[in-house]
Amino acid sequence: MTRQRLYSGMQPSADSLHAGNYIGALLQWRDMQSTYDAFFSVVDLHAITVPQNPAELREKTRRTAAQYIAAGIEPSKSTLYVQSHVRAHAELAWILSTITGFGEAGRMTQFKDKSSRYGQDSTSVGLFTYPVLMAADILLYQSELVPVGDDQKQHVELTRDLAERFNTRFGTTFTVPEPVIQKDTARIYDLQNPASKMSKSAESEAGVLWLLDDPAKSAKKIMRAVTDTEGSVRFDRGAKPGVSNLMTIYSALAGRDLASIEDEYAGRGYGDFKKDLAELVVAEFGPVRERANALLDDPAELDRLLAVNAAKADAVADATLADVYDRIGLLRRA
Ligand code: AMP
Ligand code: TRP
Repeated sequence: MTRQRLYSGMQPSADSLHAGNYIGALLQWRDMQSTYDAFFSVVDLHAITVPQNPAELREKTRRTAAQYIAAGIEPSKSTLYVQSHVRAHAELAWILSTITGFGEAGRMTQFKDKSSRYGQDSTSVGLFTYPVLMAADILLYQSELVPVGDDQKQHVELTRDLAERFNTRFGTTFTVPEPVIQKDTARIYDLQNPASKMSKSAESEAGVLWLLDDPAKSAKKIMRAVTDTEGSVRFDRGAKPGVSNLMTIYSALAGRDLASIEDEYAGRGYGDFKKDLAELVVAEFGPVRERANALLDDPAELDRLLAVNAAKADAVADATLADVYDRIGLLRRA
């Protein structure tokens, strides 16, 4: 039986990924790569839709790829590559932009959020068409499943609409993908401000656990994480957001359910619980950090792995793009 095709990606927009990216995306991807025919990209073409620095972009692209691998995404099992290495992405995005309504694109809430943050003059047309490029990513590979956070659901819905529209107008060409929305239990919040998601653009460093940070620093952040005055390790997202968030991290890293964690710490204070969690985090992130650093110490080898996988991606993407060109009536070059 052929495996279902799965596609996801992350922007290379920070030097290090954080615990939210790790638990919410990488761990899920790692688990899915055996069951599915998975494609994972570092979406550098998306990263340039907001102001960026070229030298940093190159570095962050390698770092993001290294962290995928360090977290257990195997470049021999999954097709792990850099988006810009596969030219078909930009080409299909252009074609899809011609069947995307201006109003339709204007309804994307992420665009509305980001453009109001950057202001009219710094908002590029590329930021506006960002979801069309994302649709191209997904559709080039005839992807059936797209694991994403709920903030990306609207973009996958647009992708489905574009696939259906194209198929209706030009004949069946694209697989219509299904979003796989990240489970609530995989969402990680800021350690200092557990009402907000953990994010690379957090106000304070103290709330973010970086995958590539010095493990002692991460341990300290756990010990200082915001809790509450009740003193019992109990999951209640509404009343106890800080403790519940720590329990979510514990549960994801230890592979244990919340009830067994409540049982283990019944009648004990937050100190014990935090100390054990800090140990778990150090034990998990430490080796990931070491593997990532080892990969980054040999950029030529990392680049070679990425090139091999870009060639695998090219083969699939080129076939889809050639079909698309034919169907819309572009004259074939003799
Ligand atoms: P971002 O860092 O927003 O570009 O997100 C990259 C990936 O990490 C997406 O699949 C997100 O759903 C996931 N992600 C980002 N932040 C979190 C978080 N705080 N908790 C869980 N998953 C997250
Ligand atoms: N826009 C996604 C995000 O910010 C990243 C992304 C780009 C993506 N292309 C994709 C995710 C294709 C899934 C499939 O998280």
